[in-house]
Amino acid sequence: STPAPLDLNNIQGDILAGLPKKTETYFFFQVSDVNRFRGQFAKFVPSVTTTAQVVAGRQAIQEHKSQNKEGLIPMAAVAVAFSNAGLIKLGITDDLNDAAFTEGQLKGAENLGDPGKTTNGVFSPDWEPEFKKEIHGVIYVAGDSILSVDKKLIEIKLLFGVGLPGHSITEITSIRGDVRPGKENSAHEHFGFLDGISNPAVEGFDKTTFPGQDAIAPGFMLLGHETNNSSKPQPPSWAVDGSFLTFRYLFQLVPEFDDFLEQNPIILPGLSRKEGSELLGARLVGRWKSGAPIDITPLKDDPVLAADPQRNNDFKFENELNNNDQSRCPFAAHVRKTYPRDDLEGPPRNFDIDNRRIMRRGIQFGPEVTLIEKAEKKTHHGRGLLFACYSSSIVDGFQFIQQSWANTPEFPLNAAGKSGQAGFDAIIGQKKGGGVRTVNGTNPSDPTTNITLPNETFVVPKGGEYFFVPSIAALKTKFAA
Ligand code: HEM
Repeated sequence: STPAPLDLNNIQGDILAGLPKKTETYFFFQVSDVNRFRGQFAKFVPSVTTTAQVVAGRQAIQEHKSQNKEGLIPMAAVAVAFSNAGLIKLGITDDLNDAAFTEGQLKGAENLGDPGKTTNGVFSPDWEPEFKKEIHGVIYVAGDSILSVDKKLIEIKLLFGVGLPGHSITEITSIRGDVRPGKENSAHEHFGFLDGISNPAVEGFDKTTFPGQDAIAPGFMLLGHETNNSSKPQPPSWAVDGSFLTFRYLFQLVPEFDDFLEQNPIILPGLSRKEGSELLGARLVGRWKSGAPIDITPLKDDPVLAADPQRNNDFKFENELNNNDQSRCPFAAHVRKTYPRDDLEGPPRNFDIDNRRIMRRGIQFGPEVTLIEKAEKKTHHGRGLLFACYSSSIVDGFQFIQQSWANTPEFPLNAAGKSGQAGFDAIIGQKKGGGVRTVNGTNPSDPTTNITLPNETFVVPKGGEYFFVPSIAALKTKFAA
């Protein structure tokens, strides 16, 4: 059936369209005075960016570019979201039917496998202290430059009187992300791999679907919309057109990652040591640094293919799991662990995994690796990914992908009724309580070999929270006075 048309004026702009950004600041806050907050929030709501505005803005950018004008149009787009603690603080007690959201990420961190300590039976992750405080909400501003984003943020802080007498919120922390410098690196994450290639298309919103890109029903991204899962309880009416945001503050140990690749090149006839290291990196991610999928081009990079949206997502791991064949792509490769395609969607299996899809909207943070860090093979400056993703269920989406797929060595073999260990996702896979993590199948000529990852993960979680991203109507009627 055709889904009902989406109200693009009611859905916040980042969820389906993605706020255009070179830089983005997440401002985490606590509500200190509820009554005053509701009044000030009413004045803030008109600055929240809608999906329709992002779509229009993108058209303007296209025209700007087609007229060969230089640079970005100055702009700053705004979004807002609330944690469960925030809803409670505001007296909103409706159940949004998501156990991960209700519990909060701090309490869920142990089961995500985040490192930490247990004292007197209470687990505490090794997070930055700010993320151990009660966070009520986040306002995030994305834009073309730090100047436009900071200007917008100052306006917003003034509306809420932040730091002044008469304030209604207090700042917990602000974190800025920036795309990496230079044309070469700008769309690449800090390990060097092109990111943001594969996201699902959403029916009723995306006009084109690229080969290999599945279109999912809007109900997998937005509450109160159709999915093929009728067993889900209806959300309260004000939550319709909202979505859940998973935020993770993920540090990346880049020199250590590079060193691991250098120390463990894949040995194959005709490959230099350096090429063997590059191949190992590609097999841990599932794509070459250029973005070319190894399931299509397993032994050498293909930057032309990588840059072609008609081909760079057009792979399925077709029947490989059935034949126990990891020669093209290890079962544990990051993109295969997080979206196993035909490993589950068949043929021959035909699980519907639309409920596992997430819309990724992260941005890099921190400086480039310095010469000293490179020489010492050791991280001295914090850098990584402000991981952000949307879905209509955190339990079915982010949490499931992290816990039941990335952190589960048996996956995806277990899903095919096979025994054996694919190993951990080397990028994000964590072992609850720590300990040895191995990856199977990194050598295409000998899929039975395991490699052992260093005890310290290359991606280190230092904070995060789960949020609900209400519709514009809900912001006006439920959150503002
Ligand atoms: C894809 C890196 C964290 C889920 C990718 C890609 C890269 C990457 C390079 C391939 C580009 C693309 O397909 O768009 C990273 C890094 C991370 C990280 C460096 C941490 C610092 C996460 C987390 C999750 C996740 C925490 C979810 C639990 C995904 C998904 C895809 C993906 C679903 C798309 C797979 C596909 O559709 O083929 N990631 N990622 N990633 N990642 Fe991550």
